[in-house]
Amino acid sequence: MRTDYCGELSPADVGREVKLAGWVNRRRDFGTLTFVDLRDRTGIAQLVFSKGEREVHTLNREDVIAVTGTVARRSEGNVNPGMKTGAIEVHVNALTVLNRSKTPPFLVEGDGSDATEETRLRFRYVDLRRERLQRSLELRHRVFKSTRDFFSDNGFLEIETPFLTKSTPEGARDFLVPSRLTPGSFYALPQSPQLFKQLFMIGGIDRYFQIVKCFRDEDLRSDRQPEFTQLDLEISFPNDKEDVLVILEGAMAHVFRETLGVELDRPFPRVTYTEAISRYGTDKPDLRFGMEICDISEVVANSEFRVFREAIGNGGKVAGILAAGCSSYPRSKIDRLQEIAVSAGAKGMIWLKVEEEVSSPIAKFLSEGELASIREAFSARAGDLILLLAGQGIERPLGELRLAIGREKKPIDDGFGFLWVTDFPLFELDEDGNLTSAHHPFTSPRPEDIPTLEERPLSALSNAYDLVLNGTELGSGSIRIHSRDLQERIFRLLRIGEEEAQERFGFFLRALEYGAPPHGGFALGMDRLVMMMANERSLRDVIAFPKTTTGSCPLTDAPMPVSDAQLGELGLRLNERR
Ligand code: AMO
Repeated sequence: MRTDYCGELSPADVGREVKLAGWVNRRRDFGTLTFVDLRDRTGIAQLVFSKGEREVHTLNREDVIAVTGTVARRSEGNVNPGMKTGAIEVHVNALTVLNRSKTPPFLVEGDGSDATEETRLRFRYVDLRRERLQRSLELRHRVFKSTRDFFSDNGFLEIETPFLTKSTPEGARDFLVPSRLTPGSFYALPQSPQLFKQLFMIGGIDRYFQIVKCFRDEDLRSDRQPEFTQLDLEISFPNDKEDVLVILEGAMAHVFRETLGVELDRPFPRVTYTEAISRYGTDKPDLRFGMEICDISEVVANSEFRVFREAIGNGGKVAGILAAGCSSYPRSKIDRLQEIAVSAGAKGMIWLKVEEEVSSPIAKFLSEGELASIREAFSARAGDLILLLAGQGIERPLGELRLAIGREKKPIDDGFGFLWVTDFPLFELDEDGNLTSAHHPFTSPRPEDIPTLEERPLSALSNAYDLVLNGTELGSGSIRIHSRDLQERIFRLLRIGEEEAQERFGFFLRALEYGAPPHGGFALGMDRLVMMMANERSLRDVIAFPKTTTGSCPLTDAPMPVSDAQLGELGLRLNERR
């Protein structure tokens, strides 16, 4: 129906007759002339209708039209430098109205703020016409394409894995699908293709990747969706984790170059888990700003100040961060920072404002010498603010303070700070004090920790690694266990009994006995990657049809109750009808 896209017309087209089709973005009547902004995926072209065209006066926002006309240069005063096609306009000689639109629930040309997110999602097909979403989805496409190019150029095969399958533990609840043919039995949607990709390695596929949907029933946040997309990969015979890290760095460099024209510095910096916690108070530090945690326990070891004395005496520490140039923070802001620290688990927060003198509610408890050495420990200068916490487990609250201040001071779109975090613990304790895998149960321990796993499980480190971008966990992976014995030992430590292990993972344990090669891999959250590349703050802005935080879809109204007949076919009955 058309010869050209609206957004691609330029002065080079002046004099050409063109056919365009799209949506009415805006109509303006000026006596003898009517202007219509016509929009398609590429942008907007200004159409000019002369008086003879009567139907143009019936056009409303979002009506779908096709036109034939001649491209002309705009007169001097009408050039719009803010618009891609602002130097030309199309003088229309034929208009066809292809379809009418009801008044849209919000303006497509706006930023979407004239509607709630619920409304935007309910009318997602209108929302999708907005330039910002179109740009994000186009970027998403290009990121996916360049990812696929990179991996297929490097000998990886993209192979699909089943969705109707058995539970793959990744720390969330499963979405279950009842089986009609085996009433009372359920499939689980995959939380990841973890076990299948390991089976690919056992099956001799050697290098596998897949851009794949994963499903996790967990509490949702702006960076979590119940269904999301991973770049999943696995390789056989890796020398050690280096082989996986190098591939990922290559993939990221390729994708950023191809889609954003950004050259990433490689290799990416690395920190161990322990270092990340002690320097940044988190295992996913944002490296775009310094503000490292400074432990001043030794400096104040002999202090008379009770809070310091007790913290150190009880095996804790005194540590803090320097907020450079922030001594002018008003009381209200300091109170808010204190709330952040306390809600992250700190007992309280101590602040010191450094001017000519140091002023602080605790200044009277400290000697001149102590104040001077604290100031020196932080290399604090006049105009700076020092925030201190004392006690045990103060790293995470300090990490929160660091983020709150650092992100406020630094624009969020300030570059891409990739980072590897390595040497994670193999296990951690869950809320009930039981061992649980820090990554997943298929992650291998460091060889040197294998003999003492049972005696000192919490000291064992794993061959796992996370990729962090600007303080967000982008992905994680590990070198896997490839021996049945070791896999069974891990299950036992996780209190998965032999029978349960057999029932849940028997197929996999059996496969480990038929020539499993050493292997390792990684999975990267593609929605998160695109969100950060598009400089958006929510995954919902880079997913075409996302779920709300309650896991529902306002567009389709899923999830929905189903009829008793449908339940009956599946051999199910609800306890109560809501
Ligand atoms: P993991 O569970 O760390 O590892 O997941 C890898 C990455 O997937 C993304 N991700 C999510 N994105 C959006 N919404 C969610 N609910 C969500 N959950 C996870 C994150 C995360 O870093 N099988 C292992 C990988 C491996 O060992 O190879 C796995 O899935 O960006």
